[in-house]
Amino acid sequence: MRKNESRVIVALDYSGQKQALEFVAKISPEQCKLKIGKELFTRAGPQLVEKLVSQGFDVFLDLKFHDIPNTVKKAVYAAAQLEVWMVNVHAMGGQSMLNAAREGVDMAGNRHPLLIAVSVLTSLKSSDLVQLGISDDLPDFVKRLAGMAINEGLDGLVCSAQEASLLRETFGKAPLLVTPGIRPDWAATDDQHRIMTPKQALQNGSSYLVIGRPITQHENPAEALEMINQSL
Ligand code: C5P
Repeated sequence: MRKNESRVIVALDYSGQKQALEFVAKISPEQCKLKIGKELFTRAGPQLVEKLVSQGFDVFLDLKFHDIPNTVKKAVYAAAQLEVWMVNVHAMGGQSMLNAAREGVDMAGNRHPLLIAVSVLTSLKSSDLVQLGISDDLPDFVKRLAGMAINEGLDGLVCSAQEASLLRETFGKAPLLVTPGIRPDWAATDDQHRIMTPKQALQNGSSYLVIGRPITQHENPAEALEMINQSL
């Protein structure tokens, strides 16, 4: 498999650079992309991102920016300068913020990262929306935010694999759909409830699969990745 072909994004949910690099030494950029989230970034910073990029990995910087438009534009541009492959924002930041995020990415020129939006966090339930004063039901609210992100020129969405088919039906083939909650049938479910196998998720419309513990906690991560890539 050539670099960039894998649909797997490994979630590097480690509390420090040392553990993350020990894991990364066991795998190669041909096998997967890597996701760095808030905890690891807050501990290890841009240096770790640059290190992984220089090793040839495509990095998804999962910092879910959500702020006033000008701040998000600059933050997205700063991410682009780290030469990450993908960066994300919260669609809840509103239309102007999404537009500013797009401008931030475009400022990086030809080698700009993909920009995707989180619609509704999958940890939120219908009752949370009511509490927030939102009258849409959950699927309608997901569609509303997704539509806004797509209209503002974002490349896609983070969503659950369950939502992927609804979003594909509504918005067609173009948006990238990045889905966590993936478990191969040989892996433990951990704390994930609504899970899908990698193959089911792709059939449901996912473009990229975010997978953490089934790979990072496996005794042979390269083999786990290979099994998942082969299953696709
Ligand atoms: O180990 P596991 O495969 O469950 O990791 C999934 C990754 O995707 C974690 O980084 C988690 O924070 C992230 N994620 C998720 N569910 C969401 C959004 C992000 O599991 N709705």
